[in-house]
Amino acid sequence: MKNVRELAKRRKTVRKFSGRKVSLEDILYCIETAKEAPSGMNAQPWRFLIISDREKKALIRKVCEEGERKFHERLKGELGGWVKEKGITWEKEFLESAPFLVLVFSNKKFRYFIQSVWLSIGYFLLALEEKGLATATYTPPNLEDIKKLLNIPDNFRLETILPVGYSADEKKKEPRNTLEEVVFLEEWDK
Ligand SMILES: Cc1cc2nc3c(=O)[nH]c(=O)nc-3n(C[C@H](O)[C@H](O)[C@H](O)COP(=O)(O)O)c2cc1C
Repeated sequence: MKNVRELAKRRKTVRKFSGRKVSLEDILYCIETAKEAPSGMNAQPWRFLIISDREKKALIRKVCEEGERKFHERLKGELGGWVKEKGITWEKEFLESAPFLVLVFSNKKFRYFIQSVWLSIGYFLLALEEKGLATATYTPPNLEDIKKLLNIPDNFRLETILPVGYSADEKKKEPRNTLEEVVFLEEWDK
C-alpha cells in the first residue's frame, strides 16, 4: 500500500480516459474518504452527484462546451497562453469518455464552505489515486447553466466536475516547485 506522499507524488491530471469500466463501489470508496475531510464548524458542506448515464453525460458536455466556446473566445493574457501551450481547447471530450462524472457541490449557507469542500476534493483525488483511478479537476465557466440543467437548488455552488476513469493520457505530471522554494523556516524568505 502506497503512503500518502507516494500517492500525492504519483497523481497527475488526466484528460483522456480508456474504455475500461469503473465500479461504482470504487467511486463510493473515494467519496467515503472525501467526506472524512475537516470542515468549518464541521458543517460538511459537500454533496457529490454521480452520473454515469450516457445521455446525461452528453448533455452536460454540450452545456459545458457552449460555455467553453465563449470563454475561449475571450481568453487572453497569462491564462490564454498557458491553455494554448497545454493544448487545452473548448472541447471537453472527457465529459463523455470518462465512465463516471462526479459533480461536487458546496452548500453556500455555511461559513468556510469553499475551503471545506476543496479539502474534501483533495481527499477524493488521493483516494482515486489509491484505487488506480484518475481525474481532471475540471472547473466549467458556466456554473449556473449546469445547475439549471440538473435542477440543483439555489443554495448549492458547483465547484468542479470530476470525470473519473482509468487513464489513457500519456501526458506527464506538471513539474512542482522544490521544498526550498516553498518553505521558509522561522522567518519569511529564509
Ligand atoms: C482549482 C483548480 C481548477 C482547475 N481547473 C481545470 C480546468 O478547468 N480544466 C482542466 O483541464 N484542468 C483544470 N485543473 C487542473 C490543473 O490544470 C492541474 O492540476 C495543474 O496543471 C497541475 O497538473 P497536474 O495535476 O497534472 O500535476 C484545475 C485544477 C485546480 C486545482
